[in-house]
Amino acid sequence: MIVFNEQKRIFSIEGKNYQYVLCVNDAGFLQKLHYGKKLAEADANFLKYAAEKDAPDAQNANMDMQFDGMQSECGFFGRGDYREATVLCERTDGGLVSRFRYVSHAVYQGAPEISGLPHVRQADDTLKITLQDDFSSLQVDLFYVAKNDGDVLVKYAVYRNGGNEPIRLRRAFSLCTELENRNYRLLRLEGGWGEERTPETTPIGHGITRLHSLRGASSHQMNPFLALVEENTTEENGVCFGFQLVYSGNFALTVERNNNDLLRVQGGINDTDFSWDLNQGESFTTPQVALSYSTCGLGALSRAYADFVRAQIVDPKWAFAQRPIVVNNWEATCYEFNSEKLCPIIENAAKIGADTFVLDDGWFGKRDNDDSSLGDWVVNQQKLEGGFKKIIDCCKRNGLHFGLWIEPEMVSEDSDLFRLHPDWAIQKSGVKMCQSRNQYVLDFSRRQVVDYIYECIAKLLRENEISFVKWDFNRSLSEFYSEALPFDRQGEFAHRFILGVYDLSERLTSSFPNVFFEGCASGGGRFDCGMLYYFPQIWTSDDTDAFERAKIQWGTSICYSVSAMSNHISACPNLQTGRSVSLQTRGVVASLGAMGYELDVSKISADEQEEMKKQIFDYKRVESLILNGDLFRLSNPFTSNYFCEMIVDKEKRTAYIVGMQVHNAPSRVKEKIRLIGLDEGKIYFVEELGVSASGKALSVLGLEMPKRGDFTSWTWHIKEIID
Ligand code: GLA
Repeated sequence: MIVFNEQKRIFSIEGKNYQYVLCVNDAGFLQKLHYGKKLAEADANFLKYAAEKDAPDAQNANMDMQFDGMQSECGFFGRGDYREATVLCERTDGGLVSRFRYVSHAVYQGAPEISGLPHVRQADDTLKITLQDDFSSLQVDLFYVAKNDGDVLVKYAVYRNGGNEPIRLRRAFSLCTELENRNYRLLRLEGGWGEERTPETTPIGHGITRLHSLRGASSHQMNPFLALVEENTTEENGVCFGFQLVYSGNFALTVERNNNDLLRVQGGINDTDFSWDLNQGESFTTPQVALSYSTCGLGALSRAYADFVRAQIVDPKWAFAQRPIVVNNWEATCYEFNSEKLCPIIENAAKIGADTFVLDDGWFGKRDNDDSSLGDWVVNQQKLEGGFKKIIDCCKRNGLHFGLWIEPEMVSEDSDLFRLHPDWAIQKSGVKMCQSRNQYVLDFSRRQVVDYIYECIAKLLRENEISFVKWDFNRSLSEFYSEALPFDRQGEFAHRFILGVYDLSERLTSSFPNVFFEGCASGGGRFDCGMLYYFPQIWTSDDTDAFERAKIQWGTSICYSVSAMSNHISACPNLQTGRSVSLQTRGVVASLGAMGYELDVSKISADEQEEMKKQIFDYKRVESLILNGDLFRLSNPFTSNYFCEMIVDKEKRTAYIVGMQVHNAPSRVKEKIRLIGLDEGKIYFVEELGVSASGKALSVLGLEMPKRGDFTSWTWHIKEIID
């Protein structure tokens, strides 16, 4: 709900449990007054009083030097606001000084439609506040997109040149908001390949702390998310604020602590190598940022983000729909396969109850290893004589759908595409092109290149019965440059590249609405809301070891729904860690997301086949919880000897609990886990234990966790008893 108090010039934006309040102060600046718990209507007076104390004195000749204590919604440059500017706008004379003041505002119903960028699909109200630079023709529209029953507020900015002279944006952040520092800690999700989204919490010192990516993708190394958490915040208690970008390219998120102990949180497109030219009347739309606030710990923040991802980001056609249960051949065969080898895998996939077979890397050009053929999206006849027909027929005979791996943004040096269009690969003349995994990246800032790749992939989808696509992206960008852009507009390249990726994603997903697309980037290297807008789930990590996966999934769940995570059960010893854990443990960890298989199901024993069949059967029992439920993280595998998570349906009637003991040791202590998220007044039956108890008893007394050995696991299915 958005309300404007005309007399006091105060805007109030309210969601389910938060309120965000702004005012236009006497000097005409847009000032943030409050973000947090909902206040009473009568508090408008108090807020105004508090604002006046922090605002620069409009009558004072030194007003311009009085911004250190004012909470700004758009930081300016070189005129008394000495924190990092939100936007840097260079005029033809080279000047950068700016200062923004309120001009007008409007309130709209629903969420704005933004073309070319992923964005929230649905909301109740949108507030647009327009500011004008005092010293240039730059106008800034600040957007606030709110949902009455949601706890996520979406913000972004549109920068517009309202004059005749061209201007150049040298930074164009999406977000600026400020908070009084209550000794907050900074939580980020850092990592690397195979250990993505590891939570790290540190104190916030004075000056600027910056999280970012310059890899051309949101990256394995740093997720485009941060949270500010009070010192004693736990999963269940305490205050925290989240900031999550709906963006997949080079990003920056910064927290600046100033001498007045204000924290300015900013972010958007990384400004390191960025510029964007705006001629008369042109505008630039920044990526959206999803803000969330919780007084009930990190768990509640995560649940708000999970609801946001499912209800506002993911295509509604897929958001809550049953996911395909995939058997993928990558870890089974790598590049070494042919129809004869794949058919038994498909037959056995059907026997365990999977519904989709996905053919991974190696099916195209003459690709027998990773040094050729990317870009040549035609079937490798040596391996698959006659094309996909035999494989698809085999799938159909066995009642399975067929899926395909692609890596559309890449090209191998040894490929027909590169031989024909060497200039289509990203390069800077005079600088040796650098390979990674023996491949180059195509210049997706060029429409012609995207068009060509669209045609190749569309042809495959048109001519073959393909119902699933796994979209990979296996290297970072380098030599950031486009030979197609003028020398003085190279700062647009990285963003134009990701716009090209979004364009291809949009065109393919809308032209083939029945094809299910899964995102992947060498595992979870582009796990962000930008990608989730097009692809309802993402291959979480190349690390499929159950214990490592439990940690990766724990970190990922801090700001994404479990249904966004694609989790496969792979063979043991694990390819990445060499560790062997039981099929049961691999299964229950994978069941906390979109479950599938990544091993040679034609080589499993009869017992394993039976067990997998049961795994799929059991998964279907809890699938609706995975898709719709609320996640409660009970025991942290980073800091304790147990991993335990629980998913509860919104009505609190059923729950699914997964636990794993890391190391076993003789001990007299009975380790109990308190179940949170149930209704304390209801009586529940714990199927595996044959016992019933109230929600209160389960949360106060807890249940004893089994001790069966290293990396052993268990599940509890809980159901309300209704008499
Ligand atoms: C990446 C993916 C894997 C697999 C390989 C194929 O590493 O994450 O799942 O598809 O590429 O080359």
